[in-house]
Amino acid sequence: MRVNNKFDQIYREERPQSAAWHKRAQKVFASNGATHFARILDPYRPYIAHADGVKKWDLDGNEYIDYVLGHGALLLGHNHRDVVEAVQEQVAKGVLYGENHTLEVEWADLVQEMVPGAERVLFFPCGNEANMMAVRLARVFTGRTKILRFEKHYHGWSDELASPAESGVNHDHVVVIPQNDPKRLEEELAKEEYAVLFTEGGGAFLGGRTPIDPDFVRQIPDLARKHGTLWVLDEVVTGFRAAPGGWQSVIGVKPDLTSLGKCIGGGLSAGALVGRPELFEPLRPGGVPGWQVMHGGTWNANPLTAAAGIAACRLLKTGEPQQKAADAAATLRREGNKILKDQGVSGAFYGKSSIAYLYLGPVDFEPADDTMPPVKDLARLTDPNMQPVFNRLLLHLLQRGVANLIGSVFIFSALHKEEDLNKTLRAFNESLRAMKEEGSLKAAD
Ligand SMILES: Cc1ncc(COP(=O)(O)O)c(C=O)c1O
Repeated sequence: MRVNNKFDQIYREERPQSAAWHKRAQKVFASNGATHFARILDPYRPYIAHADGVKKWDLDGNEYIDYVLGHGALLLGHNHRDVVEAVQEQVAKGVLYGENHTLEVEWADLVQEMVPGAERVLFFPCGNEANMMAVRLARVFTGRTKILRFEKHYHGWSDELASPAESGVNHDHVVVIPQNDPKRLEEELAKEEYAVLFTEGGGAFLGGRTPIDPDFVRQIPDLARKHGTLWVLDEVVTGFRAAPGGWQSVIGVKPDLTSLGKCIGGGLSAGALVGRPELFEPLRPGGVPGWQVMHGGTWNANPLTAAAGIAACRLLKTGEPQQKAADAAATLRREGNKILKDQGVSGAFYGKSSIAYLYLGPVDFEPADDTMPPVKDLARLTDPNMQPVFNRLLLHLLQRGVANLIGSVFIFSALHKEEDLNKTLRAFNESLRAMKEEGSLKAAD
């Protein structure tokens, strides 16, 4: 891939303080100075000094329209007044009682009101832990150990939840099958050896960069029940983004267990597992003779997160933030697709609800609308060979005041306005042009 070294030089020159901190970070953080795989970039993502609404500013005063939004947690944008007030008030009252408190009950009540079937609620510091508990409860309930999951679906990074392809992952009990293949799913489930089947809401990676067919998902509850496997729908991303009742309420399914995270904490770290009461019985002392599941966790439902979570859930319950964010995402997809066409670049923006995914590469057909990607083989949507191109695009977007996730994912909040979208589209247009000029992106033949 050819690149324009002058551009790289300007990127660095305009971010000297980020450069200095990156150098320092490289000495302590092995992942090229980053603390999350999605924050790794050559030469470096900017070091952020403060954020507000949909904007964030780096140490050198550069401004960015934010489409990372705390890895999707900030559907209400940065520093929503209600959340800030709730947190400020709570800080002064105590952040970690290590005791029962009323906020955790209020927060759980709100979750119950929002998510159908959330008859029991259990809080965690993150979505990963909610999924770990789902595995534990499913194993106790079914007496089985094996886990069935779909290719590329992300459920966290801990053992058995991480992709079996990762080094050091214990995947003795994990079987991965393609999504959208009911025959294969039934074949596996019919072995009657799986405790649990995981599915990411919307499809693989952040709500469906590789979308899952809702008709396929609608077959899962009956199949899983028939073969004694518990079905966990991982709505850590889609939980409150797709709708107040989650993606399950959009497509009309009822999982045995649902994991939640991100938006549920209003920007503070949180997760929850919700579902049918009998599945949580092993947590009740003496609830099921011979069974006992321990639930520890210093930060579970801590008052500070609960206060932020209550403030956020009160707003998310109305469905208005979700609608605003979804409308803005749809505009980016629609107008972004026009730019791709005008520039003669093969690819498409696609997605549902409040996230827009960008695919670059040959298209197989023209989809009827921007909710579906234009390729038959969905594996191409996450082709690792394209990541260097997306990294380059990200660098060009950053230089033009737009920060997204890994170059290809734009996550929206309720606060993205027309002017933000216009600036983003301009930045995208100019980035494509610059990339064609430097030879890092080809126009379609
Ligand atoms: C679908 C899904 N499940 C689980 C997780 C893990 O959540 P957390 O990062 O809060 O542990 C994530 C994180 O991005 C996710 O996208």
